[in-house]
Amino acid sequence: MWKATGEGPQASQNHMVRIKPRLFAGLDIGSSKVSFVIGQVNQEERLEIIGVGKTPCNGMKNGVVIDIEATTQAILKAKEEAELMAGYQVDRVLLSIGGSHIKSFDSKGMVAITNEEISESDVKRVIDAAKAVAVPSDREVLHILPKKFRVDEQDDISAPVGMSGVRLEVSVRIITGGHTAIQNAVKCTERTGLKVDAIVLEQLASALAILSEDEKDLGAAVVDMGCGTSDLIIYSNGSVSYTASLSIGGRHVSNDIAVGLRTPQSAAEEIKKKYACALASLVNEEESIEVPSVGGTKTRSVLRRHLGEIVEPRVEETLNFIHNEIQASGLAEMLGAGIIFTGGASQLDGLVEMGEFVFDLPVRRGAITKVAGLKDVVRSPDFATAVGLIIYAKDNAAKNAVVWEQESKVNQFFHRFKNFFREVN
Ligand SMILES: Nc1ncnc2c1ncn2[C@@H]1O[C@H](COP(=O)(O)OP(=O)(O)OP(=O)(O)O)[C@@H](O)[C@H]1O
Ligand SMILES: [Mg+2]
Repeated sequence: MWKATGEGPQASQNHMVRIKPRLFAGLDIGSSKVSFVIGQVNQEERLEIIGVGKTPCNGMKNGVVIDIEATTQAILKAKEEAELMAGYQVDRVLLSIGGSHIKSFDSKGMVAITNEEISESDVKRVIDAAKAVAVPSDREVLHILPKKFRVDEQDDISAPVGMSGVRLEVSVRIITGGHTAIQNAVKCTERTGLKVDAIVLEQLASALAILSEDEKDLGAAVVDMGCGTSDLIIYSNGSVSYTASLSIGGRHVSNDIAVGLRTPQSAAEEIKKKYACALASLVNEEESIEVPSVGGTKTRSVLRRHLGEIVEPRVEETLNFIHNEIQASGLAEMLGAGIIFTGGASQLDGLVEMGEFVFDLPVRRGAITKVAGLKDVVRSPDFATAVGLIIYAKDNAAKNAVVWEQESKVNQFFHRFKNFFREVN
């Protein structure tokens, strides 16, 4: 998994005995950038971010690689940046995947309990029964997420192991992705010398980074607003109940600004980040900004309110699409914790205010609070997915009860880690 390139944080604390660190790496290939995060589990069992890398990249569109070489180079650069910061080299990674090729649906399974008391193997059997559905050959199953169990007539059970009964049922959410899209993302990653240990749904990883268990129980919708897509995941009663991906994101707002203000794309992008507000009425009527002209060095003075008027309809349209998707899920009444935004485009000024207006629910921006270490660097919401990936890795490693500290166990861990994902998926 790792090789110390310098002393490394753990090594410097342990001059005599070099303890193998428990490292995890997450790779998020977005439509605008590649981010790479390396985390380490510290002595208090907390995840500490020890290395991050981010490289602009346009090699991915709508969750599908459109330029293998550019994507590979960007991964390599982000990885090296993160490794340099961490002082370790990594050779395995968790990879996120998203976009409109992702589909999810419900399935059910039922098994008879032979020994009266439900065991771990009964739970595994019932999940196996639920995943026995025909998946087209051009799709791959990414996750099988148990929602709730039922033991005989008793419903809404979250942990059935140890209970008495004769019949165990489960309902699960199955998430699948397009085979070609997944394979091409894996190919780019492997071309950099990395092995992909698991592939995780992008918005599932983002939600892990920002949602608390209480919020999942109360019901919450997480919207990861990226450059090219807005990805939705809905939790109700503690588990994933719905996912969707809309092909609209921050890039569309920048395009509108470029056309509306007749300014180059790069200037539109900067103007959006610095001055745009989703609700034009929140902007001071008098305030003006300088806007570069296309092809010239001259700038023009434009009212900031006018910029708001360009941005507002696009953001309103995006939020209405998300609102329609939430209504279509049938879960709108279950969102006690409201809507939580993350992803780079969620930083747009006025988004929360417009969100409250469109959704008529509590709306907020998510904060990445579950990790220590380089918190300030990864606080930005465009790191939510990559940070969520290493949280996912740690959670699933814990389930396998792996002893990490001994060198000989390191390879064994990954063997088990891989088997775990093979079993779950
Ligand atoms: N301060 C800001 N205000 C508004 N928008 C912003 C701000 N900072 C970044 N963005 C926008 O966020 C978007 C990038 O977000 P992010 O990094 O989450 O996307 P991505 O992961 O590359 O794309 P995707 O998830 O769609 O594949 C860009 O459109 C960028 O313009
Ligand atoms: Mg993204």
